[in-house]
Amino acid sequence: MRNVIIAGNWKMYKTQAEALEFLQGFMTQLDVTPDDREIVLCVPFTTLVSLSQNLHGSRIRLGAQNVHWETAGAYTGEIAAPMLTEIGVRYVIVGHSERRQYFGETDETVNLRLKTAQQASLTPILCVGETKQQRDANETESLIFSQLKKGLVGVDQTNLVIAYEPIWAIGTGDTCEATEANRVIGLIREQLTNPNVSIQYGGSVKPENVDEIMAQPEIDGALVGGASLQPGSFARIVNFQ
Ligand code: 13P
Repeated sequence: MRNVIIAGNWKMYKTQAEALEFLQGFMTQLDVTPDDREIVLCVPFTTLVSLSQNLHGSRIRLGAQNVHWETAGAYTGEIAAPMLTEIGVRYVIVGHSERRQYFGETDETVNLRLKTAQQASLTPILCVGETKQQRDANETESLIFSQLKKGLVGVDQTNLVIAYEPIWAIGTGDTCEATEANRVIGLIREQLTNPNVSIQYGGSVKPENVDEIMAQPEIDGALVGGASLQPGSFARIVNFQ
């Protein structure tokens, strides 16, 4: 049984005050959300504590955007899994393309982070996806298979979410065709040993396209950037039809 998981990735947006304002507008719109959908907010580290306090008793799950592979140590600027679990974080994004592109994240460090997250009972959301150049060169499949093969060495596929995020569709408004996202996600599933891993699509998911995306048989959820920042648009996305 594959879970439907709609996650917002706030990236480097929102102060604590802005996060709490978002919650006020968002929570009231979840009365109509079917019970079988998991709603996750992956927020900046500085807003995790106050959101955690304000999400008590709510159905919204808290996620972080990165985790280090050591549980403590001299790693300036990093965050350790026990620091996240202590405050009720359940999910963590690992290997987002922005981490790979701007911060030197490799398949090897992604693999280490995934395993540490799982050891701490966090559910990692592993991001994979190709650039426009790789797509144009017909390298989409080989690149993604390589990211999966290297990233998933020794990783427990019973506590894992994967997000297919074509880089050319992130923040561009240029969504991958729903049928194409479905095709690639089907191929990703064929590479896995556990057929029940939830696989999300990410890249310019919006209120206007979420229904079509979620109607695809292989797509189990969405990882949403820009459109998760406004209560109204993210509520429309989690309440997809
Ligand atoms: P956008 O929804 O802004 O394209 O971002 C997608 C993303 O990177 C989510 O992780």
